Amino acid sequence: MKEQKTALVTGANKGIGHEIVGQLLAKGLRVILTARNEAAGQKAANSFRGDVQFLPMDVSDDASIEKAARAYGERSDALDVLINNAGIYPDENVDILTIRREQLVKTFQTNTFGPLSVTQAFLPFLKKSDAARVINISSGYGEVGGLSQKVPSYCLSKLALNGVTIMLDQALRPQGIAVYVMCPGWVRTDMGGANATRSIQEGADTAVWLAIDAPRDLSGKFFRNRSVIGW
Ligand SMILES: NC(=O)c1ccc[n+]([C@@H]2O[C@H](COP(=O)([O-])OP(=O)(O)OC[C@H]3O[C@@H](n4cnc5c(N)ncnc54)[C@H](OP(=O)(O)O)[C@@H]3O)[C@@H](O)[C@H]2O)c1
Repeated sequence: MKEQKTALVTGANKGIGHEIVGQLLAKGLRVILTARNEAAGQKAANSFRGDVQFLPMDVSDDASIEKAARAYGERSDALDVLINNAGIYPDENVDILTIRREQLVKTFQTNTFGPLSVTQAFLPFLKKSDAARVINISSGYGEVGGLSQKVPSYCLSKLALNGVTIMLDQALRPQGIAVYVMCPGWVRTDMGGANATRSIQEGADTAVWLAIDAPRDLSGKFFRNRSVIGW
């Protein structure tokens, strides 16, 4: 019998992260659902059947990340899949000429530094997997051609997340860990809104494919619709 793989998903109390948890459970993985809001995270975990556990983690706070990694180490050994999904989209009524430094920092803390810190903290467990994978959820707004001066902090944070992915691939591929980054498309979640073109199931699909089936030699690439796209 094949050994059961374990995946951890950040920001999974709702939206695309929540759907990713459901799809991974349906494929037989053990899943650690993480969220910054304990009540919402526990409720989300309780909504699933299958091998799911809740772990509190605020990806903008290193103390919270370290606490979560310690708690993970108490109940688990290896981690096979890390999905850095948590994100914020706070750029209402600002543009590149008016955005304040504090807002740029706040967005980067969650969307860019969060995935990097979480990957660093869980690296000891990823190293214990035979074939670990890290998936960062970026956006078309992080593509060079997708940058919009009306969405400044979000675009820059996702552009930099793509850069983080390139560097993590350089560092981790030699250690047998694949690192991918992807855009889910425009998805009907609280972030994407009701007019978005994609269902939540479609939004989660590429992440789940990268977590389980994508060729490992495509580590370091940017994806949409299970295909490599340009930066
Ligand atoms: N929806 C789209 O059209 C779209 C398009 C491109 C990319 N994306 C990306 O896809 C990912 C998921 O987005 P979504 O549409 O599912 O958004 P969502 O419905 O707003 O969900 C975002 C999730 O991230 C969590 N989160 C935010 N800050 C966090 C923090 N500091 N620590 C831990 N969790 C945190 C939220 O928790 P709370 O409930 O506590 O706020 C929530 O669970 C994001 O990275 C987003 O940028 C989305």
